[in-house]
Amino acid sequence: MRDFDENNITAAVIDRYQNTPDPRLKKIMTSLVQHLHDFVRDIEPTEAEWGQAIDFLSRTGQLCTDKRQEFILLSDTLGVSMLVDAINHRFAEGATETTVLGPFYVQDPPEAAFGGDISGGAKGEPLYIDGSILSEDGKPVANAIIDVWHSDADGFYDVQLPELEEPTLRARFHSDVQGRFRFWTITPRYYPIPNDGTVGEMLKASARHPYRPAHVHFKIMADGHQTLVTHLFVSGDQYLDSDAVFAVKNSLIRDYTREAPGVAPDGKKIDTPWRKLHSDFVLSKAAVKKSAPAA
Ligand code: BEZ
Ligand code: FE
Repeated sequence: MRDFDENNITAAVIDRYQNTPDPRLKKIMTSLVQHLHDFVRDIEPTEAEWGQAIDFLSRTGQLCTDKRQEFILLSDTLGVSMLVDAINHRFAEGATETTVLGPFYVQDPPEAAFGGDISGGAKGEPLYIDGSILSEDGKPVANAIIDVWHSDADGFYDVQLPELEEPTLRARFHSDVQGRFRFWTITPRYYPIPNDGTVGEMLKASARHPYRPAHVHFKIMADGHQTLVTHLFVSGDQYLDSDAVFAVKNSLIRDYTREAPGVAPDGKKIDTPWRKLHSDFVLSKAAVKKSAPAA
C-alpha cells in the first residue's frame, strides 16, 4: 500500500502489527498507534511544536539516572501513576486504599526496634505513631514487614540531603504477635516534588504548583496478603486538594493530633508539645480483581 493520507495512515500502521506473535503486545501496539494518531489529529501540531515535544522527551530521558527518574515523575504529574495504581489494586472492600510509591523509597531500609525512634536527631515536632496490621477478616497480622519513610520538618527526604551519613526518617519495623507496631519520629511537612527538570518546566508552563501535602509513607508486606503501598496524609494540610501527583484519597487523611507535654501511650515522658497518630491498616488477601468497578 502507498499514498497514505492523514486519515488512512492509522489503519495502515495498525495493520503492520497484525503478525505480532504476543497477543498482549499486539493489543498494546494497536491501541498505542490508534490513540497517538488520534491525539496528533486532535492537536494538529506544527513541525516546530512536534520538535519541541521530541526535545522535551529527550531531555526527560537524559535527566534519568540511578538516583533520579524524571519519566516516573512525568507519569506521576500526568496522573498516570495513580491510574495504573488504581487498576492494579482493586482490593477487597474494607482494605486500606493504596497510593503512589514515589521516588524516595529505598529498598531494604534499616531495621528499627519495636517502639524505636527513627528521627536520627532531625529537628521537628516529635510524632508518635502506632496501630495494628489487620487482615481483611479483622484478624491481626503478626510479623508483617512495615517500611516507613517521610520528609523532614523542612520538606526534605534524607536522600535529598547529601550531608546526612545515615538513613533518617525511614526504617523497617515488624508487627508483633498481636499485629501491633509503634515508633517515634518527627512531624513531616508538605514539600515540592523535584521541579528543576522537564517536569518542573511543564508544571510552570501550565501554572501548576509542585507541592504534595504532608504525609508518611508505608509499604506493608505480609505472607498471604497483597503488599500495601500507601500514605497517611496530615489533615488540614493546604495541599490536600491540589496534590501535584493526584495521590490523595479521603480514607487516607488522618488527624495527627497535637498533644501537651506529658506521658505518651508507650509510657515515655515528653516535656515538649508533640503529635500523635493512631492508624490501623487492613491488608487484602485476594488477588487483584480483573474488571473495573462500576462508574
Ligand atoms: C513522594 O511522595 O515521595 C512522591 C511521590 C510522587 C512524586 C514525587 C514524590
Ligand atoms: Fe512523599
